[in-house]
Amino acid sequence: MTVLIKGGTVVSASGQSLNEVLVDGEHIVALLQPGSTPAESAEAGAERVIDATGKYVIPGGVDVHTHMELPFGGTVASDDFESGTRAAAWGGTTTIIDFAVQRYGENVRDCLEQWMAKAEGNCAIDYGFHMIIGGVDDQSLKEMDLLVDEGITSFKLFMAYPGVFLSDDGQILRAMQQAAGNGGMIMMHAENGLAIDVLAEQAVERGETDPINHGYVRRAEFESEATHRAIQLAKVGAAPLYIVHLSASEALEQVAMARDKGANVFAETCPQYLYLNLEDHLGAPGFGGAAYVCSTPLRTKHEHHHQDLWKGLRTNDLSVVSTDHCPFCMKEQKELGLDDFRAIPNGIGGVEHRVDLIYQGVRQHEIGLARWVELCATTPARMFGLYPRKGVIQPGSDADIVLYDPAAGWTISADSHHMNLDHSAYEGIRLEGKVDLVMSRGRVIIEHDAYHGTKGDGQYLRRGLSQYLI
Ligand code: URP
Ligand code: ZN
Ligand code: ZN
Repeated sequence: MTVLIKGGTVVSASGQSLNEVLVDGEHIVALLQPGSTPAESAEAGAERVIDATGKYVIPGGVDVHTHMELPFGGTVASDDFESGTRAAAWGGTTTIIDFAVQRYGENVRDCLEQWMAKAEGNCAIDYGFHMIIGGVDDQSLKEMDLLVDEGITSFKLFMAYPGVFLSDDGQILRAMQQAAGNGGMIMMHAENGLAIDVLAEQAVERGETDPINHGYVRRAEFESEATHRAIQLAKVGAAPLYIVHLSASEALEQVAMARDKGANVFAETCPQYLYLNLEDHLGAPGFGGAAYVCSTPLRTKHEHHHQDLWKGLRTNDLSVVSTDHCPFCMKEQKELGLDDFRAIPNGIGGVEHRVDLIYQGVRQHEIGLARWVELCATTPARMFGLYPRKGVIQPGSDADIVLYDPAAGWTISADSHHMNLDHSAYEGIRLEGKVDLVMSRGRVIIEHDAYHGTKGDGQYLRRGLSQYLI
C-alpha cells in the first residue's frame, strides 16, 4: 500500500520541514517538496492520502528501557508484551527495547530464549532486547560475544539489589573488558546497593516502614558514588558506558565531568524524574507512596533535581529519555510491602506517556522541537544500533511515523490509559499535545482514538552496534 502524508510539519533531530512523506509498503520511500503538482508529488498514485495539516509528523518513539512481564520483587510486572506494547503504541512509541534477564547460575542463552518466547507473536510494535547479566562468570562473559553477533548488543549490570542482580566491581570490570572486545554497550544501574541495604535495615529497625523511606535510604550520594565508580571502571575497562534511569543532580555532575573530559559515557533519564518528587509522591498519604517506589528513587523537591535534569537534556549530558516501564498494580503487588517498604516491588509504569510528557518540555521552553524528537526517537535508535531503520523519517527507513497534534489538550488518568495498571503515576497531569495517528512499518495502528493493530504485528529487531562507539 502506498500512503502520502501531506500538509504536516516533519520534525527531525536536525529541524523542521514541510515535506510530504511517501510510504510504500513498510518503508518510507520519499520526502517530497510541498506544492509539487499532484502528478509530480505522486499524490495521484498514492492509495491513501493522510492530511496532516496542523500536525507534527515525527518518527515513531523508541523507548530503550522497558520491563514487560518482568518477574521482580516477588511478583511479575503487570504489563505483558501484548498489553505493554499496545499501550506504547497509543503513546506514539513504535519500538521498545526490553530486557531479557539472566540471574546468577542461569544460562544466558536459555534466559534469552525464554524472553524471546514471551514476546514472539504478542507485540503490537517492533521490539529488541538488551541482556541483563545478573551473574558475571566465565560462561556468561563468553556468551556476551555470541549475543553481540546475534543482535543483542547491550548488557545491563547492577551495582544495586544485592543477592538479586548485584555485580561486584571485579565482575563489572570483567564485563566491561569483554564489551570493549566485542563492541557491546554496558548499561549500568548505578546505586550502591550494599550501602542502601544498611540504611534500609536501620530504618526498619526504627519502625520507619512507610514507602517514603525507600527514597530516604536510597540517597543521592549512593547514586553519585556508584556513577563515579562505574565511570572509573569503564575507563579502565575501555568500554562505552550508558547510565540508566539517572535521577540525581549529583550523578548527572559525574556524567557531565566525564563527558567534558571526552569519556565515552552516556546517560538517560525518565519522565518520573522530571515530573515527580519524593515528598509529594513517595510521601503520599497512607500507602499511596508505594505507587512511586522505583529505583533509582524520586528525589526531593527541595533541591534542583528537576531543573538540573532538564538542563542535562538540553546540554546533551543526558542523551536519551526512556521510561523504565516496570508497572505493578497497587492491589496485590505494591501491597506486598504494606508493612515494610523493602518489600514493595520497584517500578513505575509509563510507557504510554513518554512522548507526551517530554513534549511538555517543548511547551515550557525547556527543550526545542528537534531536541524532543532527538531524545525520544533518534538518539535512542542510534545509541542501540537501530538507526537509520528506526528513529528518523527518511527514504529507506521503516515507516514508523506519528502524527502529533499540538493543539489537542487532555489529562492523564488510569481511567483512560491503556497500560494494564490500576493507577497512574501521572494521574491528573494536564497535557498539551496528543498523538493523533501512529503508523508502524506502514500500517496505521492508532487512528481516530482507536487501535487498529493486531498482536504479533511487531517484529523482533536484531540490532547493530551503537553508533556512539569510538
Ligand atoms: O524500579 C525500577 N527501576 N524497576 C525496574 C528494574 C530496574 O532497576 O530498572
Ligand atoms: Zn535499574
Ligand atoms: Zn529498568
